[in-house]
Amino acid sequence: DVKDLKDYYQNYFPIGIAVNVRSLEEPQADFIKKNFNSITAENDMKMGPLQPKEGIFNWKNADRIVDFAFKNNMKIRGHALCWHEQAGDWIFVDKNGNNVSRELLLERLRTHIHTVVNRYKGKIYAWDVVNEAIDDNPNNLLRKSKWTEIIGDDFIEKAFEYAHEADPNAKLFYNDYNSERPEKVERIYTLLKQLKDKNIPIDGVGLQAHWSIFEPSRSELEHAIQKYSSLGLEIHITELDVSIYKWEKEKRAKRPNESDEYTPELQKAQANKYQMFFEVFRKYKKNITNVTFWNATDKYTWLDHYPVEGRKNYPSLFDINAKPKAAFWKVV
Ligand code: XIL
Repeated sequence: DVKDLKDYYQNYFPIGIAVNVRSLEEPQADFIKKNFNSITAENDMKMGPLQPKEGIFNWKNADRIVDFAFKNNMKIRGHALCWHEQAGDWIFVDKNGNNVSRELLLERLRTHIHTVVNRYKGKIYAWDVVNEAIDDNPNNLLRKSKWTEIIGDDFIEKAFEYAHEADPNAKLFYNDYNSERPEKVERIYTLLKQLKDKNIPIDGVGLQAHWSIFEPSRSELEHAIQKYSSLGLEIHITELDVSIYKWEKEKRAKRPNESDEYTPELQKAQANKYQMFFEVFRKYKKNITNVTFWNATDKYTWLDHYPVEGRKNYPSLFDINAKPKAAFWKVV
């Protein structure tokens, strides 16, 4: 008897999926209901999409996703309240295009977070409050952005405080990528420790987990989980996919001689990597309280467009026809 993905993991953690509203139409909707019991909006709850102009909120898609999840007894992770990307350009500037004051940007941030968190109070159980604030350059802690430039480094704690005011029962997460690369673990840990020491209301850390058949290793992953858990934080795996290519953000062009072919060797390497990741997740089931995939099948993935436009990728457990791949069987 073949069970669906989420059922294999019912004694471990919810299995989530990122969606857009098109995924909620049949036959995809049925596939999603069967395999997943947690949902995230791939784009529709980001700042810009939700509030494209000051005071003008675009609830249509977000509401649709929340209704779908609620009706189908799925948990909902909110993504994301404060990010340097997809933020809506208006938020940082005045009518003349000049940066607003710290006070005004804090007010806009508070209004945005209060309005959004309040609307879905009691339905969204966990929020990514701040996304990707750590710099790519290992010599810095925080990334330079409009948030740090106008508000300062404390935009992070403010965002958490506003979210907590709006829904004291929601679990609040800091979310980032490469969060198991050893040197970045140290810097994320530093940030999280600062927040904990100041009694900022934070419940967990999100590991985006945009991984590949090359990384991370088992020991890197275990080290990261142990380190974050030592702060008493929950861990959510928030955007899992396993690219068949090496992650090289710098090289945005397709490399010569690189083939889009999804060979049996690649499929096998990917299945083994997935197996190892889920072995680790199960081992740390006390600490890991949600595992969410970023795209459901190989038919559509954001990795077809990033970091290289137009290079086909095959990062999920299900093939382009939504049939389980070798990786699926290793995971279950
Ligand atoms: C991505 C979406 O998947 C794309 O559709 C969109 O064009 C860009 O954003 N880290 C995050 C996610 O936190 O919000 C990003 O989602 C992927 C990387």
